[in-house]
Amino acid sequence: MRNYLLLMLLTAGHLVQAQAVGPLTARLDQVRLTFALGADGRPGYAISFGTKPVIAPSHLGLSFADGQGFDGPLVVTGSETKNVDETWQPVWGEVKSIRNHYQQLTVHLRQPAAPGRLLDVVFRVFADGVGFRYELPAQPNLAYFTVQDEHTEFNLPANHKAFWIPGDYDSNEYTYTTSRLSAVNTTPIEAIQQKAAPHRVQTPLLLKSDDGLYVNIHEAALVNYPALMLNVDPQTFCLSSQLVPDATGAKAYLQAPEHTPWRTVVVADNAPALLTSKLILNLNEPSKLSETSWIQPQKFVGVWWEMHVNRATWNYADTSNIKLAGTNWAGLKANGRHGANTANVKRYIDFAAQHHIQGVLVEGWNVGWEDWANNWKEEVFDFVTPYPDFDVSELQRYAAGKGVKLIMHHETSSSVTNYERRQPAAYQFMKQYGYDAVKTGYVGRIIPRGEHHDGQWMVNHYNRTAQLTADNHIMVDMHEAVRPTGLHRTYPNWMASEAARGNEFNAWSSGNPPEHETILPFTRLMGGPMDYTPGIFQIKLDDWNPARNQGKQVHTTLAKQLALYVTLYSPLQMAADLPEAYEKHPDAFRFIEDVAVDWDDTRVLAAEPGDYLTTVRKAKGKDEWYLGSITDENARTQPIKLNFLTPGQRYEATIYADGKGADWQKNPMAYRISRQVVTSKSALTLRLAPGGGTAISFKPLKK
Ligand code: NOJ
Ligand code: CA
Repeated sequence: MRNYLLLMLLTAGHLVQAQAVGPLTARLDQVRLTFALGADGRPGYAISFGTKPVIAPSHLGLSFADGQGFDGPLVVTGSETKNVDETWQPVWGEVKSIRNHYQQLTVHLRQPAAPGRLLDVVFRVFADGVGFRYELPAQPNLAYFTVQDEHTEFNLPANHKAFWIPGDYDSNEYTYTTSRLSAVNTTPIEAIQQKAAPHRVQTPLLLKSDDGLYVNIHEAALVNYPALMLNVDPQTFCLSSQLVPDATGAKAYLQAPEHTPWRTVVVADNAPALLTSKLILNLNEPSKLSETSWIQPQKFVGVWWEMHVNRATWNYADTSNIKLAGTNWAGLKANGRHGANTANVKRYIDFAAQHHIQGVLVEGWNVGWEDWANNWKEEVFDFVTPYPDFDVSELQRYAAGKGVKLIMHHETSSSVTNYERRQPAAYQFMKQYGYDAVKTGYVGRIIPRGEHHDGQWMVNHYNRTAQLTADNHIMVDMHEAVRPTGLHRTYPNWMASEAARGNEFNAWSSGNPPEHETILPFTRLMGGPMDYTPGIFQIKLDDWNPARNQGKQVHTTLAKQLALYVTLYSPLQMAADLPEAYEKHPDAFRFIEDVAVDWDDTRVLAAEPGDYLTTVRKAKGKDEWYLGSITDENARTQPIKLNFLTPGQRYEATIYADGKGADWQKNPMAYRISRQVVTSKSALTLRLAPGGGTAISFKPLKK
C-alpha cells in the first residue's frame, strides 16, 4: 500500500499530503481506493487493482450556479468507514442471489471560508471496482441549488484501447468505434449539435489496458440528475465528466439533503469477470415494490418487423397534416398496408399460442401515425383511440381465449408533455382491455423543446413512468430512453430498455457490424437488460419487399440469432421475425421456444470484446442449461468444457450450429441441428462461421 501511495504522490504532483488527516484509504481484495486533498486543496481519488493503477489521481468537485459550489479548496472535517456484506434475491435476473460486499469510506468536507457549506463523498469499494457519489447533507447554508457542472475526473494511467460511441445527448443508437484514447474523435457529432466541445463519449465506456485490465466506467442509480458523459483529453488520457444540460444550460436543480448518482469503475483482469459484475445493481436501492407476482419475464412476438422491413405500415392512411382532435379517423381512406389490423394481430396470437410465447406486441394500433415523426408536434397520439380496423375488444377476447397477453405500444414521438398528460388514462385503458405490459418510445426531439433525452427532466420522466406503471401493475420496456443504470433493481417492473443500436438497424440502415453484439454486453448491458429484438431468420430482406429492401440483409447467420437469446440478457425477449419466417424453420425455432428468460445462474466461459463471447445460463428452478456463443466477422473454434452441468447427470444437448459454408454475408441461413448425450465431464468444440454463432440447450435425461 505504501508503495502505491508513494507512486501516486510522486506521479500526481498536484495531489500531496496537504492535510493533517493525510490520505484515506479503503480496500477489498485487490481493489484499493485512496482519497486525498491536493496541494491546491481540491479533493481527489485514485484506484488500483493489485499493483496496477486503474485510475491515477483525479479531481472531484461540483460547481453551482450561485458560484458557491465545491470546485475550490476544501477541508476534511472527518471520515468514517464501514464494512457491509449481505446477500439479496432479485425478482428476476441472471443469477438467483447476489452478494453485496463492500468497504465504505465516507469523507466529510467543508468549504474553508463562508458560507462553509458541507459536502460528503462516499466511496464503496468492492472486489470488482469502486462506486462513489457526492452527498449534500441537510445544512443551514444550503437548501435549493443548481448544479452548473460536475468536475469528476477519471485520469487513466495510459493510452488504453477504448470501445466508444459519441456523446450525443439524445441518442445511443451508434455502432462502437474501437480506438486508442488518443484517437477518440467525435467531431461529426459536435458538428451536428453545433457545439464547440471536446471529444465526448458516452458511458458505459469500456477500456482495455495493455497490462491486461478491463475497466468499465458508468454510473448507478441515475435519479433526479442528468446522465454522465465523458470528455476525453487525447493527450493526457484524462476523462472528465460532462453532464447533459437542460434547455437553459444548467445541469440539475436540487434541494438538500440530496446526492448524485454513483460514479462506477468496474475492473477485472479478465473479460468474463467484468461481465458477471453485480456492482452497478448493488449500488441501486432495493425494490420499491412489495408485491411482484404480476411481474413475468417473458418472450413475445409482434406486429413490428413487418413495418421495419417495409411490408406493412404503422399508419392507417397515406396522408399527412392530420390533427389529433377533429379528424374523422373512420372516414379516412385506408392505405391497405396497415399492419395492426384485427386479422393480422390474430395471426400473431395464433402463432404465439401454438409456440408457448406469452406476449404479442402490436405497434401502429392507435391513431396518430400519419405524421408522427419529424414535425416536433405536441398533440400527436392520445394512446386510447384505436384505428378503425383494430378491434380492441375483440382482440382482448381472442387473446384471452388463447392464453396470450397483448403488449401495448406507446410511441410518444418525444412529445413527453403530451404523454404525461395522458398517461393515467392510457394506463386505465390498458387495464380495461387486459394489457399488463407496455413498450414506450421516444423517437425525435423532446417536448418540452430544448430538453434532451438524457437530461434531468427526461431522467425524471423515465423514473416517474417506472413508478406510475408499477402503481398500475404494468411492466415497461422503454425505447430511446436514457441508458440503464441498474434501476431495474428498484423498479423490477422496468424490464428492459433499448437505449443502444438494436437489431432494427439491420432492417433499414447500413446495419450493425457482426462485432456489435460482442461489444454490447461490455458496454450498454452493464447498466441493465436490452430489448435488442433478436431472432431474425429471414436474413435476406428482399423477400419481404423486393422494391424497398434490395440487397439488404441482417448482419448475422441464423444460428447466431439463436445464440443472442443467451448472450444478450433480457427478461423480455422478442422473437422479432414474422410468423411465416419461423414457420419455414420449425426445427430452429424450437430453440426460441425452449430458451428461458429468467435464470438461476450465469457463467461466461470465454469473452473478448469486439471478438467473441460464450455464455451459459441455468434456467430458473430447473436443471436445464442454455449456451450462446457468438463471433465477430471472423470464423472461430471455441473449445468448451461442460463442467457447469450437475455431476452424475446425463443431458441431451441439442446443438444449433452454423451449417456447412455458413457466412454472414454469403450464406447466412445455413444451419445444422444435432443432438448428443453429454455429462459434466464432456467437452465440445464449437465451430462458429464468420459472423456466426452456436446455441445449445442441455436438458436432463431420466436416470
Ligand atoms: C423505434 C423503436 O426502437 C422501434 O422498436 C419502434 O418500432 C419504432 N421506434 C416506432 O415506434
Ligand atoms: Ca430505437
